[in-house]
Amino acid sequence: MTNKPSLWEKQIKAQIRHRYAQQAAAGGLHENAADSMRNAGYPQDWIDQLPDTLIAAFSGCGCPLANLKLIGEEVVMDLGAGAGIDSFLVASRLPAGMVISVDFTAEMLSIAAKKTTYQNVIRIAADIERLPFPDKLSDLILANASFTLATDKSRAMAEAHRLLKPGGRLAICDLVHDGDLPHDIIEDPLAHTTSLGGVISPRYLQKIAAAAGFQDVHMSNYRPFSCVSAVTLTARRPL
Ligand SMILES: C[S@@+](CC[C@H](N)C(=O)[O-])C[C@H]1O[C@@H](n2cnc3c(N)ncnc32)[C@H](O)[C@@H]1O
Repeated sequence: MTNKPSLWEKQIKAQIRHRYAQQAAAGGLHENAADSMRNAGYPQDWIDQLPDTLIAAFSGCGCPLANLKLIGEEVVMDLGAGAGIDSFLVASRLPAGMVISVDFTAEMLSIAAKKTTYQNVIRIAADIERLPFPDKLSDLILANASFTLATDKSRAMAEAHRLLKPGGRLAICDLVHDGDLPHDIIEDPLAHTTSLGGVISPRYLQKIAAAAGFQDVHMSNYRPFSCVSAVTLTARRPL
């Protein structure tokens, strides 16, 4: 693995940051973001708990927190946190723990900074493929619709594995697709900057998780999402 992104990766990442900075400035992506959250699996009482500005900025594809227990002083990382909805929900349920929200679009992180009063959230602008943290920092890693945007998904997966403590849990909601993507996506030179252009097959997603060293790799909650599918991948770093 080379340590530096290629020129192509740098350009794609700059375009992704630009796109999400514009989205942050516009106040969000969906007109009915609360409906999108319900469809993605967020219970109504969780949605009710969120500031409207965060709801409006939702751009996830699932609910990685569904069915997860949060315990005591756990350290939770939210990779590609965007406006920080999942970080907010964790922070409110884990008062003795710590949430590290990571996103390389600083404008997205600042939506959360303006709206979140929880003291147990740290926001870091960084690339999820090259994280400036020591090994074995985290008990739980969440990612909601961000791995699909990674230009080197194996690298992002390896970083998640490196950062988890032995026995630590991974819960990713992401987009997958079997077979060829529609032509309008394949032929769009900027497709990778949308969440659809970087979509991989479910088998490949499972394969890179296993190759990074994860065990108990499990996929669930398949549902249609635009012309692809959204899915939840859970896994564990071996003890
Ligand atoms: C589709 S949005 C999802 C945001 C949030 N997780 C949610 O559920 O609303 C993807 C986010 O991932 C961030 N992102 C994409 N690639 C990234 C990378 N390589 N490193 C860090 N953040 C990245 C984008 O800036 C964007 O905020």
